[in-house]
Amino acid sequence: MDDDQSLADRSATLRTIAMPGDTNPAGDIFGGWVLSQLDMAAGICAGQRAQSRVVTVAIDRMQFLKPVRVGDILGVYTTVTRTGRSSMDILVEAWVRRGRIGIREKVTSATFTFVAVDENGKSAAIPNRDDLPAYAKEKSGGL
Ligand SMILES: CC(C)(COP(=O)(O)OP(=O)(O)OC[C@H]1O[C@@H](n2cnc3c(N)ncnc32)[C@H](O)[C@@H]1OP(=O)(O)O)[C@@H](O)C(=O)NCCC(=O)NCCS
Repeated sequence: MDDDQSLADRSATLRTIAMPGDTNPAGDIFGGWVLSQLDMAAGICAGQRAQSRVVTVAIDRMQFLKPVRVGDILGVYTTVTRTGRSSMDILVEAWVRRGRIGIREKVTSATFTFVAVDENGKSAAIPNRDDLPAYAKEKSGGL
């Protein structure tokens, strides 16, 4: 499956390569490594939206759709789908480019809930979107 349209509204937040050291005993990439990449990408997205430190508070609907293999290029895409006072939901999708022929497949998706926190770890209000610096409103996150 190669569905460019479904990626159109999302930020390409993270891109990395699956290495031999990240495999499970069966030789595919360990699910915990994939989850960690999604958590990092969601954290980048949430931190830009909140303009503060953020913490992961929940992960919902985590789906491992296809295996990730050594040498795959993993791209992680994020979208803020809800903001509350201090919490926000981030839809995260991971896609791979496999091998030399470059087939693209969606491998994993999940919704992460992050909470903006102050320096004491207490929940803190998220700013209005209009008050964000210009870079944080860009799809690329200003990268
Ligand atoms: C996140 C944390 C600060 C929230 O503390 P809290 O006392 O529940 O704070 P509040 O009651 O003010 O709630 C803050 C927000 O979190 C939301 N929230 C709290 N627990 C939640 C959960 N399990 N799922 C979804 N949202 C949750 C609340 O609904 C609230 O949202 P809102 O401000 O948008 O209305 C606290 O639970 C915490 O520190 N958790 C550990 C986070 C962490 O260490 N993550 C990394 C794990 S390795």
